[in-house]
Amino acid sequence: MNLQDKVIIVTGGGQGLGRVMAEHLASKGARLALLDLDLEKLDAAVSACTAHGIDARAYPCNVADEIQVIDAMTSIARDFGAIHGLINNAGILRDGFLLRMQNETLAKMSLNDWRSVIDVNLTGGFLCTREAAAKMVELKTPGTIINISSISRAGNIGQSNYSAAKAGVAAATVTWSKELARYGIRVAGIAPGFIETEMTLGMKPEALERVTAGIPLKRMGRADEIAHAAAFIFENDYYDGRILELDGGLRM
Ligand code: NAI
Repeated sequence: MNLQDKVIIVTGGGQGLGRVMAEHLASKGARLALLDLDLEKLDAAVSACTAHGIDARAYPCNVADEIQVIDAMTSIARDFGAIHGLINNAGILRDGFLLRMQNETLAKMSLNDWRSVIDVNLTGGFLCTREAAAKMVELKTPGTIINISSISRAGNIGQSNYSAAKAGVAAATVTWSKELARYGIRVAGIAPGFIETEMTLGMKPEALERVTAGIPLKRMGRADEIAHAAAFIFENDYYDGRILELDGGLRM
Protein backbone atom coordinates (compact mmCIF):
# COMPACT_ATOMS: atom_id res chain seq x y z
CA MET A 1 0.00 0.00 0.00
CA ASN A 2 1.29 3.41 -0.92
CA LEU A 3 0.55 5.53 2.15
CA GLN A 4 -0.03 8.77 0.22
CA ASP A 5 -3.59 10.03 0.99
CA LYS A 6 -4.55 6.76 2.77
CA VAL A 7 -6.77 7.06 5.85
CA ILE A 8 -5.09 5.43 8.85
CA ILE A 9 -6.57 5.14 12.35
CA VAL A 10 -4.20 5.02 15.33
CA THR A 11 -5.62 4.15 18.75
CA GLY A 12 -3.78 5.57 21.74
CA GLY A 13 -2.52 8.18 19.30
CA GLY A 14 -2.21 10.91 21.93
CA GLN A 15 1.27 10.03 23.16
CA GLY A 16 4.11 7.52 23.06
CA LEU A 17 4.33 5.00 20.24
CA GLY A 18 0.89 5.93 18.89
CA ARG A 19 1.79 9.57 18.41
CA VAL A 20 5.22 8.83 16.90
CA MET A 21 3.73 6.26 14.50
CA ALA A 22 1.02 8.76 13.49
CA GLU A 23 3.60 11.49 12.81
CA HIS A 24 5.73 9.10 10.76
CA LEU A 25 2.74 8.03 8.64
CA ALA A 26 1.77 11.71 8.23
CA SER A 27 5.30 12.41 6.93
CA LYS A 28 4.58 9.79 4.26
CA GLY A 29 1.38 11.57 3.19
CA ALA A 30 -1.21 9.48 5.08
CA ARG A 31 -4.33 11.09 6.55
CA LEU A 32 -4.77 10.31 10.24
CA ALA A 33 -7.68 9.62 12.59
CA LEU A 34 -6.36 9.55 16.15
CA LEU A 35 -8.27 7.91 19.01
CA ASP A 36 -7.43 8.41 22.66
CA LEU A 37 -9.05 9.09 26.03
CA ASP A 38 -7.46 12.49 26.49
CA LEU A 39 -8.63 15.33 24.19
CA GLU A 40 -5.77 17.66 25.13
CA LYS A 41 -3.11 15.08 24.18
CA LEU A 42 -5.09 14.24 21.04
CA ASP A 43 -5.19 17.90 19.95
CA ALA A 44 -1.41 18.20 20.34
CA ALA A 45 -0.84 15.00 18.34
CA VAL A 46 -3.23 16.15 15.59
CA SER A 47 -1.33 19.47 15.30
CA ALA A 48 1.98 17.57 15.01
CA CYS A 49 0.48 15.48 12.18
CA THR A 50 -1.12 18.37 10.28
CA ALA A 51 2.26 20.14 10.35
CA HIS A 52 3.17 17.61 7.63
CA GLY A 53 0.48 19.15 5.39
CA ILE A 54 -2.05 16.33 5.71
CA ASP A 55 -5.55 16.09 7.21
CA ALA A 56 -5.67 14.68 10.75
CA ARG A 57 -8.57 14.57 13.20
CA ALA A 58 -9.11 13.71 16.86
CA TYR A 59 -11.72 11.23 18.11
CA PRO A 60 -11.96 10.99 21.91
CA CYS A 61 -12.79 7.33 22.53
CA ASN A 62 -12.32 4.59 25.10
CA VAL A 63 -11.39 1.58 22.95
CA ALA A 64 -12.79 -0.79 25.57
CA ASP A 65 -16.31 0.68 25.20
CA GLU A 66 -18.29 -0.92 22.38
CA ILE A 67 -20.65 2.02 21.78
CA GLN A 68 -17.81 4.57 21.77
CA VAL A 69 -15.83 2.47 19.26
CA ILE A 70 -18.84 2.04 16.94
CA ASP A 71 -19.51 5.81 17.11
CA ALA A 72 -15.85 6.71 16.45
CA MET A 73 -15.55 4.38 13.43
CA THR A 74 -18.84 5.67 12.02
CA SER A 75 -17.64 9.28 12.38
CA ILE A 76 -14.27 8.49 10.76
CA ALA A 77 -15.94 6.75 7.80
CA ARG A 78 -18.26 9.76 7.39
CA ASP A 79 -15.50 12.40 7.79
CA PHE A 80 -12.90 10.76 5.51
CA GLY A 81 -15.11 8.60 3.23
CA ALA A 82 -12.68 5.66 3.53
CA ILE A 83 -10.64 3.62 6.03
CA HIS A 84 -7.42 2.02 4.70
CA GLY A 85 -5.57 1.19 7.89
CA LEU A 86 -5.79 0.73 11.65
CA ILE A 87 -3.11 0.44 14.31
CA ASN A 88 -4.44 -1.12 17.52
CA ASN A 89 -1.93 0.56 19.80
CA ALA A 90 -3.88 1.75 22.88
CA GLY A 91 -2.65 -0.16 25.90
CA ILE A 92 -2.22 0.00 29.65
CA LEU A 93 -0.18 -1.76 32.33
CA ARG A 94 -1.38 -2.80 35.80
CA ASP A 95 1.67 -4.84 36.80
CA GLY A 96 1.63 -7.04 39.87
CA PHE A 97 2.22 -10.59 41.02
CA LEU A 98 -0.62 -13.08 41.04
CA LEU A 99 0.26 -13.63 44.71
CA ARG A 100 2.79 -11.78 46.86
CA MET A 101 3.64 -12.11 50.53
CA GLN A 102 3.78 -8.59 52.03
CA ASN A 103 4.35 -8.18 55.78
CA GLU A 104 3.16 -11.73 56.32
CA THR A 105 -0.04 -11.04 54.41
CA LEU A 106 -0.77 -12.64 51.06
CA ALA A 107 -1.59 -9.90 48.51
CA LYS A 108 -3.44 -10.98 45.36
CA MET A 109 -3.76 -9.42 41.92
CA SER A 110 -7.20 -7.81 41.92
CA LEU A 111 -9.85 -8.85 39.44
CA ASN A 112 -10.08 -5.20 38.48
CA ASP A 113 -6.37 -5.08 37.52
CA TRP A 114 -6.80 -8.28 35.51
CA ARG A 115 -9.97 -7.10 33.75
CA SER A 116 -8.89 -3.54 32.94
CA VAL A 117 -5.72 -4.74 31.16
CA ILE A 118 -7.63 -7.40 29.19
CA ASP A 119 -10.39 -4.85 28.39
CA VAL A 120 -8.08 -2.19 26.91
CA ASN A 121 -5.29 -4.26 25.35
CA LEU A 122 -7.29 -7.23 24.02
CA THR A 123 -11.00 -6.36 23.89
CA GLY A 124 -10.18 -2.85 22.63
CA GLY A 125 -8.28 -4.37 19.70
CA PHE A 126 -11.15 -6.77 19.01
CA LEU A 127 -13.75 -3.96 18.95
CA CYS A 128 -11.66 -1.61 16.79
CA THR A 129 -10.68 -4.36 14.35
CA ARG A 130 -14.28 -5.57 14.01
CA GLU A 131 -15.66 -2.09 13.37
CA ALA A 132 -12.83 -0.81 11.14
CA ALA A 133 -12.82 -4.02 9.06
CA ALA A 134 -16.62 -3.81 8.66
CA LYS A 135 -16.26 -0.22 7.35
CA MET A 136 -13.44 -1.29 4.98
CA VAL A 137 -15.74 -3.97 3.54
CA GLU A 138 -18.80 -1.68 3.33
CA LEU A 139 -16.85 1.21 1.78
CA LYS A 140 -14.87 -1.14 -0.52
CA THR A 141 -11.58 0.35 0.72
CA PRO A 142 -9.72 -2.77 1.92
CA GLY A 143 -6.55 -2.11 3.87
CA THR A 144 -4.21 -3.26 6.59
CA ILE A 145 -4.58 -3.71 10.34
CA ILE A 146 -1.58 -3.71 12.68
CA ASN A 147 -1.89 -4.96 16.26
CA ILE A 148 0.68 -3.93 18.84
CA SER A 149 1.54 -7.01 20.91
CA SER A 150 4.62 -7.19 23.13
CA ILE A 151 7.67 -9.27 23.95
CA SER A 152 5.75 -10.00 27.19
CA ARG A 153 3.34 -12.21 25.24
CA ALA A 154 5.73 -15.09 25.99
CA GLY A 155 4.95 -14.68 29.71
CA ASN A 156 6.68 -12.18 31.96
CA ILE A 157 6.94 -12.17 35.74
CA GLY A 158 4.69 -9.55 37.34
CA GLN A 159 2.60 -9.20 34.20
CA SER A 160 0.13 -12.09 34.06
CA ASN A 161 -2.69 -9.77 32.93
CA TYR A 162 -0.57 -7.93 30.32
CA SER A 163 1.16 -11.11 29.05
CA ALA A 164 -2.20 -12.85 28.61
CA ALA A 165 -3.65 -9.83 26.79
CA LYS A 166 -0.65 -9.49 24.46
CA ALA A 167 -0.59 -13.27 23.74
CA GLY A 168 -4.30 -12.93 22.89
CA VAL A 169 -3.50 -10.02 20.58
CA ALA A 170 -0.88 -12.13 18.77
CA ALA A 171 -3.26 -15.12 18.38
CA ALA A 172 -6.12 -12.90 17.21
CA THR A 173 -3.78 -11.32 14.63
CA VAL A 174 -3.20 -14.72 13.01
CA THR A 175 -6.91 -15.60 13.16
CA TRP A 176 -8.05 -12.30 11.67
CA SER A 177 -5.43 -12.47 8.90
CA LYS A 178 -6.91 -15.82 7.86
CA GLU A 179 -10.52 -14.62 8.11
CA LEU A 180 -10.15 -11.19 6.50
CA ALA A 181 -7.83 -12.04 3.59
CA ARG A 182 -10.92 -12.88 1.49
CA TYR A 183 -11.93 -9.19 1.77
CA GLY A 184 -8.46 -8.00 0.75
CA ILE A 185 -7.58 -7.01 4.33
CA ARG A 186 -4.13 -7.88 5.72
CA VAL A 187 -3.60 -8.21 9.49
CA ALA A 188 -0.17 -8.30 11.11
CA GLY A 189 1.42 -7.41 14.42
CA ILE A 190 4.47 -5.87 16.03
CA ALA A 191 5.91 -7.18 19.29
CA PRO A 192 8.15 -4.44 20.69
CA GLY A 193 10.69 -5.12 23.41
CA PHE A 194 11.44 -2.25 25.79
CA ILE A 195 10.92 1.08 24.01
CA GLU A 196 11.50 4.56 25.45
CA THR A 197 8.02 6.03 25.99
CA GLU A 198 6.06 7.52 28.88
CA MET A 199 4.94 3.94 29.72
CA THR A 200 8.45 2.57 30.28
CA LEU A 201 9.94 5.78 31.66
CA GLY A 202 7.45 5.27 34.53
CA MET A 203 9.46 2.18 35.58
CA LYS A 204 11.84 2.39 38.56
CA PRO A 205 15.39 3.41 37.43
CA GLU A 206 16.93 0.23 38.90
CA ALA A 207 14.38 -1.91 37.00
CA LEU A 208 15.13 -0.01 33.77
CA GLU A 209 18.88 -0.54 34.30
CA ARG A 210 18.37 -4.27 34.90
CA VAL A 211 16.24 -4.59 31.76
CA THR A 212 18.69 -2.64 29.57
CA ALA A 213 21.63 -4.77 30.77
CA GLY A 214 19.81 -7.88 29.49
CA ILE A 215 19.22 -6.50 25.98
CA PRO A 216 21.89 -7.77 23.54
CA LEU A 217 22.04 -4.31 21.89
CA LYS A 218 22.41 -2.74 25.39
CA ARG A 219 19.85 -0.02 24.84
CA MET A 220 16.10 0.42 24.78
CA GLY A 221 14.38 0.80 21.46
CA ARG A 222 13.19 4.17 20.13
CA ALA A 223 9.61 4.94 19.16
CA ASP A 224 10.74 5.94 15.65
CA GLU A 225 12.10 2.38 15.19
CA ILE A 226 8.60 1.00 15.88
CA ALA A 227 7.09 3.61 13.53
CA HIS A 228 9.49 2.46 10.80
CA ALA A 229 8.22 -1.13 11.27
CA ALA A 230 4.57 -0.02 11.09
CA ALA A 231 5.21 1.81 7.80
CA PHE A 232 6.98 -1.32 6.47
CA ILE A 233 3.93 -3.48 7.26
CA PHE A 234 1.56 -1.03 5.57
CA GLU A 235 3.79 -0.71 2.50
CA ASN A 236 4.71 -4.38 1.98
CA ASP A 237 1.64 -6.09 0.48
CA TYR A 238 2.99 -9.60 1.13
CA TYR A 239 3.42 -9.17 4.89
CA ASP A 240 0.44 -10.90 6.55
CA GLY A 241 -0.50 -12.95 9.61
CA ARG A 242 2.88 -12.55 11.32
CA ILE A 243 4.20 -10.77 14.37
CA LEU A 244 7.29 -8.68 13.70
CA GLU A 245 9.61 -8.88 16.74
CA LEU A 246 11.46 -5.62 17.44
CA ASP A 247 13.35 -5.99 20.68
CA GLY A 248 17.09 -5.50 20.20
CA GLY A 249 17.54 -9.29 20.40
CA LEU A 250 16.06 -9.64 23.90
CA ARG A 251 14.37 -12.98 24.66
CA MET A 252 11.91 -13.45 27.54
P1 NAI B 1 1.74 5.05 26.55
O1 NAI B 1 1.17 4.79 27.91
O2 NAI B 1 2.85 6.03 26.44
O3 NAI B 1 0.57 5.48 25.56
C1 NAI B 1 -0.62 4.74 25.48
C2 NAI B 1 -1.72 5.63 24.96
O4 NAI B 1 -2.93 4.86 24.94
C3 NAI B 1 -1.97 6.84 25.86
O5 NAI B 1 -2.07 8.03 25.09
C4 NAI B 1 -3.29 6.51 26.55
O6 NAI B 1 -4.07 7.65 26.88
C5 NAI B 1 -3.97 5.66 25.48
N1 NAI B 1 -5.00 4.80 26.06
C6 NAI B 1 -4.92 4.09 27.21
N2 NAI B 1 -6.09 3.47 27.45
C7 NAI B 1 -6.92 3.81 26.43
C8 NAI B 1 -8.28 3.49 26.12
N3 NAI B 1 -9.02 2.71 26.93
N4 NAI B 1 -8.82 4.01 25.00
C9 NAI B 1 -8.11 4.82 24.19
N5 NAI B 1 -6.82 5.17 24.44
C10 NAI B 1 -6.24 4.66 25.55
O7 NAI B 1 2.18 3.63 25.99
P2 NAI B 1 3.25 3.25 24.85
O8 NAI B 1 4.52 2.88 25.49
O9 NAI B 1 3.23 4.27 23.78
O10 NAI B 1 2.62 1.88 24.33
C11 NAI B 1 1.80 1.82 23.18
C12 NAI B 1 1.49 0.35 22.91
O11 NAI B 1 2.68 -0.38 22.75
C13 NAI B 1 0.72 -0.33 24.05
O12 NAI B 1 -0.20 -1.26 23.51
C14 NAI B 1 1.81 -1.07 24.78
O13 NAI B 1 1.32 -2.17 25.50
C15 NAI B 1 2.70 -1.49 23.63
N6 NAI B 1 4.07 -1.80 23.99
C16 NAI B 1 4.88 -0.81 24.51
C17 NAI B 1 6.19 -1.12 24.85
C18 NAI B 1 7.12 -0.11 25.40
O14 NAI B 1 8.23 -0.50 25.77
N7 NAI B 1 6.77 1.16 25.48
C19 NAI B 1 6.71 -2.49 24.68
C20 NAI B 1 5.77 -3.40 24.11
C21 NAI B 1 4.50 -3.05 23.78
